[in-house]
Amino acid sequence: MYPQHVLEEVRLENDIVDVISEYLPLKQKGTSYFGLCPFHNEKTPSFSVSSEKQFYYCFGCGAAGNVFTFVMQMENDTFPEAVQRLADRVHITLPTPQYTAEARLRQEQKQRLFQMHKEAGRFYYKKLHEPVGAEARAYLQKRQMKENIQKKFGIGYAPKDRQALYRHLQQSGFSQQELLQSGLITEKKDGKDYFDRFRNRLMFPILDIQGQVIGFGGRILSQGEPKYLNSPETLLFHKSRNLYGLNFAKNTKTREMILVEGYMDMISLYQAGFRNAVASLGTAFNQEHAKVLKKYADSVIVLYDSDDAGIMAAQRAIGVLKETGFHIKVLQVPDGKDPDEFIRQNGAEAFSALLANAVHYIRFQIQCLKKKYDLNEMSQKVAFTTQAAEILAGVENDIEKAVYAQEISHITGIAQNAIESETKKIQQKQENTFYESAEQKRQKSFQQQHSQKMTASKGILQAQRDILFLCASNVRIYEKMKEVFFAEDFLEPVYQRVYEKIAFLYEKSGTVFPGELINYFQLPQEQKLVAEIFAVVLEHTGLKDMEKALNEEIKRVKMAKLDRLAAEAKSIEQIQQLLTEKRKADSLYITITDG
Ligand code: UTP
Ligand code: MN
Repeated sequence: MYPQHVLEEVRLENDIVDVISEYLPLKQKGTSYFGLCPFHNEKTPSFSVSSEKQFYYCFGCGAAGNVFTFVMQMENDTFPEAVQRLADRVHITLPTPQYTAEARLRQEQKQRLFQMHKEAGRFYYKKLHEPVGAEARAYLQKRQMKENIQKKFGIGYAPKDRQALYRHLQQSGFSQQELLQSGLITEKKDGKDYFDRFRNRLMFPILDIQGQVIGFGGRILSQGEPKYLNSPETLLFHKSRNLYGLNFAKNTKTREMILVEGYMDMISLYQAGFRNAVASLGTAFNQEHAKVLKKYADSVIVLYDSDDAGIMAAQRAIGVLKETGFHIKVLQVPDGKDPDEFIRQNGAEAFSALLANAVHYIRFQIQCLKKKYDLNEMSQKVAFTTQAAEILAGVENDIEKAVYAQEISHITGIAQNAIESETKKIQQKQENTFYESAEQKRQKSFQQQHSQKMTASKGILQAQRDILFLCASNVRIYEKMKEVFFAEDFLEPVYQRVYEKIAFLYEKSGTVFPGELINYFQLPQEQKLVAEIFAVVLEHTGLKDMEKALNEEIKRVKMAKLDRLAAEAKSIEQIQQLLTEKRKADSLYITITDG
């Protein structure tokens, strides 16, 4: 893998606040920043990022780490992948890494799966143009998909024969295990029989950003369930990350994307000359999709079906896109059609005109809201306006806010400045709750970790953290500590290593920087343990207090360790020796208050 100094260079160049801000909005408070935790569902922020310590900690779910950990968790990266990503971000060229055997194996497996999917794509494509593909070809004609587009998207046909692909791939030299891994072939329960996942379906290859086939969607040719069958999650295909059509859409010059619901919508738009459309497949548009899209666009037009389900899905997508900081517009196709049907009936020009009418998402939300109220009734009018003010409170830009306040005023006849001042009030309240709740959670977490009631083992864990925290923050404390407290005194193996690294870092540079210390630990679980050392600020009123607390913690940890050794002891002599050590530990006291 990469040498430590390289890791450190990459880490220092990637300020954690900058990196995390690219994924979620953060609000500053002192040297800390707060936001909604991306790793668990929450309405009020528990997620804190320390610019000073260069790490993050969530008071809600305990997620913690440095900039590498964050990227690993967010992008589902391995450690080397996260290092590569962050190095790319700041244009650092990494030396050739020394891959582990495991990583190499994974890479090889992926390569085989890529080959297999390519082969399967070719197979389906060929079948479409053979006599067995007649019905599928007729279907495509009915849906007016032109041949050059069929070819461009690699549309194919999976025959009825339940082992057509299976036999073909076997002949191409793929092993049974590889076939199952791909999800293209399924195993009968007894493990003796295999059959194709996709049968008698129109096949849509799903491509990754480089244009390699990673999975398929298969549409039934007539009626039946499911209408679309998709590849399962595999080493290659992750449905919550992949966007259909992005490999084409990314080539458009515009930083604006049209988000649609289905395969056919995306293709129809493309055929009509709108080349910046993408679809989320077989799953709702989510945070991961948004992050992927963010690389290629700043602005999104949400173009979902105009039925109730489509409107609900659009509202959800808006929420997701807002969190990722997109500029959002919404477009609805009239008469409950989907975009594909609209284009087929009305043509590209009509669609272009429609597109020009896409509205800012706030207007869409206000329109949706308006449908729920009878504005001829005074009480409903007030309720509507209050709700609308709530929506406006989410708008950052003051000018935009004024525009929509004016619109609402126009609809209801309620004075614009009344709507604006209500909006301001709501915003103020939201801001206050934001900080209050962050502060409350921090305090609660502190209390939990230090309360009398906490379980003994939790207490010992925290005692170890406190010791390490004090050692890392003050070299004088460390110098005193190292005389009486040794790495093997820690119960937690990771903390033994942390203690050794602290020694090493003091030796090397005279200070211990939390973000750097974490670098030495590369498994997410280890990184979390290390970050937890620095997560909660110790609140000691003075040095004397700190000294007392430290001595208590030292004793607690030493005793717990000796108890554990005693429980595992094999002889009387050993136990007697441990007892002597316990007496020694009991009378131990270090002073940090003198020179
Ligand atoms: P729709 O039901 O709106 O289908 O599903 P569609 O896109 O209009 O399809 P056509 O025009 O009838 O061929 C929208 C998307 O939801 C996913 C597919 O990605 C589909 O394109 N879906 C739908 C599934 O994954 N499975 C299903 O059974 C249905
Ligand atoms: Mn459709």
